Parts: sequence; structure tokens; C-alpha cells
Amino acid sequence: MFYKLVAKFLFLFLFFLVLSCSQKGDNSGGRSTITLVFKHGKIAGDPELFRQIIDRFEIENPGIKVKDEVLPASTDEQHQFYVLNLEGKSPEFDVLSMDVIWVPEFARARWIKDLSHLLTDVERSDFFPGPMQAVTYRGRVYAVPWYIDAGVLYYRKDLLRKYGFPPPKIWQELVTIAQSIIMREPDMYGFIWQGKQYEGLVCNVLEYFWSNGGDILEEEKLVLNSSENISALQFMRDLIVKYRVTPPLVITAIEEPTRHIFGNGKAVFMRNWPYALNIFEREGSAIKGKVGVSALPSFPGKESASTLGGWQLGINNNSRHPEEAERLIRFLTSPEVQKALALTVGYKPSRKSLYFDKDLIRVQPFLIQLHDIFMKVRSRPVTPYYMMITQVIQPEFSASLSGIKTPEEALNSAQRQIEHIFQVEK
Ligand code: GLC
Repeated sequence: MFYKLVAKFLFLFLFFLVLSCSQKGDNSGGRSTITLVFKHGKIAGDPELFRQIIDRFEIENPGIKVKDEVLPASTDEQHQFYVLNLEGKSPEFDVLSMDVIWVPEFARARWIKDLSHLLTDVERSDFFPGPMQAVTYRGRVYAVPWYIDAGVLYYRKDLLRKYGFPPPKIWQELVTIAQSIIMREPDMYGFIWQGKQYEGLVCNVLEYFWSNGGDILEEEKLVLNSSENISALQFMRDLIVKYRVTPPLVITAIEEPTRHIFGNGKAVFMRNWPYALNIFEREGSAIKGKVGVSALPSFPGKESASTLGGWQLGINNNSRHPEEAERLIRFLTSPEVQKALALTVGYKPSRKSLYFDKDLIRVQPFLIQLHDIFMKVRSRPVTPYYMMITQVIQPEFSASLSGIKTPEEALNSAQRQIEHIFQVEK
């Protein structure tokens, strides 16, 4: 009898031991826990506030833990990581945050899942048209727009007021105002932007092309070396060497260094994405209450233009937890969480309806103005071959800004190289 009891006890003990070992991850309340890995770029502002949002998802979804893993800040480096890992069929991450320019490429390569079922037609119409077009490839939706970006002009409204200037509408006016203010405020730069050889440079340059009536492609025709583009690129170089309102350091600058300079009160104007405003308005900021935001200027008689940016959430085709990953994407792109992100880290909602949300507008009245900019924002070429185009134009734009090539030489060379790529890809 005694031996029988011991044997039964031993059997039960072994049974539970095997059961618990066979369950993946840790064990919470008898239920096995799945760990989702979420890859994204560096969170602007306070990462702790973002973690609190993720914690809320974990509380609402017992049994799912989220490990959020941060990639380098630059979009180009993040792209490199994904190309290597997705091409290598890595199952090591589930949800990924994708730049607006990558989705057609990732979808074509079958690296990410078709998520068309996640968005009804009504829901699709709530997202801004730019990001919605960016996540759609051959009629199917491969990612859900998470937050939207557009290039905007930041200006020191206290200084413009002090010296009697309205915010500039024309590029040349910006130059005149900047020159006049830095003469009287000697420790300041006039106008800073992102001029390093990387994706952000393309976003900046396109804003000058478009606001001069130029473009990269016109109805599939490559028009890179147009006279509009040549004079726009010349103007960017002139900002540095002729008008001297832009310091040469801009040639090596990406978003965050320029945000720090402006945030320390050291520049009159800055081109950047909208995330920086929340940071400038935080307690303790050197320029709290002194910053204005407007659409970027244009060349005379032409329209202002902003480059569409922003990030979208998709699922790795080799994810082991696609259902849970969908839950995380639904949560992070929901109106409630997009609103929380706007209030905390400053990411601007990709859902139009939130720009009419009374609580949000009360705290961030500039969202009304951003809504109009987001509706008119222009996209970089939406094609699976975009990365090939950008890899050609980045060094050419950079060579022209640093004076190694004239704008005409740089744009002719870019035109020739891309024509060649198009011939090969046809
Ligand atoms: C921002 C934009 C992104 C763009 C990048 C360039 O992250 O959201 O679309 O490609 O800046 O640096």
C-alpha cells in the first residue's frame, strides 16, 4: 500500500514536472506566457512613458508579455537590420515598426504578413491618405499606420516678434529674417536642418524640389535633373556658403542633433518632424512657450511642400505568434493609444479623427494646423525599388551640399544611374 502511494505520488510529480517544462516561457497563474518581441526605433522623448503603454497592453492581455527592443535611431541602419534578418527568415522578432518607404519592398519580398483583414473599409478611410497608400501593395494592406510625420518649420516666435518679423512664407524671406536676427543675436545659428548623407537628407532636399515645382518622377518619367531641381539644390548650398544662415555642421547632422541645438535656444529656425514640439514644451525646456510651428516656405509663386514620413506596424512572416502580434498591433494603433502617444512621446496620430478630439486639441492646439499639413503631404516614390533610388541620390545630394560637385553634375549623375536601374528592372 505504502509503495503504491509513493509510486502514485512520484508519477504525479513527474507528470507536472514534464508539463511545466513543456510550456514555453514563464508561467503566470497556471497559463503559459507568450513573449512577443517588438522591434522599433528609438522612442522620442521619454521611453519610460512608452513602456507604461506597453505595460497596459500586458495587463489587458494576460499571457502575453512584450519585449520591446530598440534599434539604432537612423532609418537606414534599421533597414539594414531588417534586410539581413528578414531575408535570413529570422523568427526572433514578431512585430516591427517600418518606415513609410519600406512597406512595398518588404511586401514584395514576402517578408511581412498580409494584414488586410485587420482594417475594415471604414477604418481605412480614417487614416491619412499618404500612409494608407504607403502600406498598400497590389491592393492588399501589409501594415497599419502607427504615427505620421511631415517636415515642418520650427521658429522662435519670441525672437520674430522682438524684431518685428512674421513667420516666413518664401525661402528668401527666411534667409533675410535669419540674417537679420543672427546679426543681433550673435550666439545663434540662423537655420538648421538635416544634411548628413542618409535618408533624412532626401526628405529635406525633396521639400526644396517640390516647393520649386520640381520632382523625382513625373508620371513615371525620371525628371531628377530638371532646372527646378538644380536651382533648388543650389539654394540649399547657398544657405551654407552664400547666405551663411546655415552652419556647415548641418552637413553631418541628423534629426536629434538639430533638435538639441534648437532646444538649447541656439537657432532661430529649424526644419524637423513634429515630434520635437512636445519636447520643447516640457517643464524645464530652455525654449518652453517660445516656439512656433508652420508649413515650410516655398520659392516665389510655388506651393509649400512637406515630405511624408512616419512609421507603420507589421508582422514578420516568420513570427511564431502571429495572433498575439495582431493583438499588439490593434492595441498600438487604436485611437486610445494613438492619443496617449500624442500626449506623452509626441508621436502624431495617423488617424484623422483624433485631430477633432476635444481633449487632444485643448492641450495641443497646433494639431489643427498639422492636420492640414498631413492632408497635403507629399510621398517619396512609392515603389519596391525605392531603396535603390535613395542609395543613388543620397551621395549625389551630399556631394552637392559639400561642394564636391555642382548641383547640375550631381543631378545629371543621379539621373543616369537611376535610368540604368529602371532599364535593368523592367
Ligand atoms: C523620420 C520619418 C521617416 C524618415 C526619417 C528620415 O523618422 O518618420 O519617414 O524616413 O525620419 O530620417
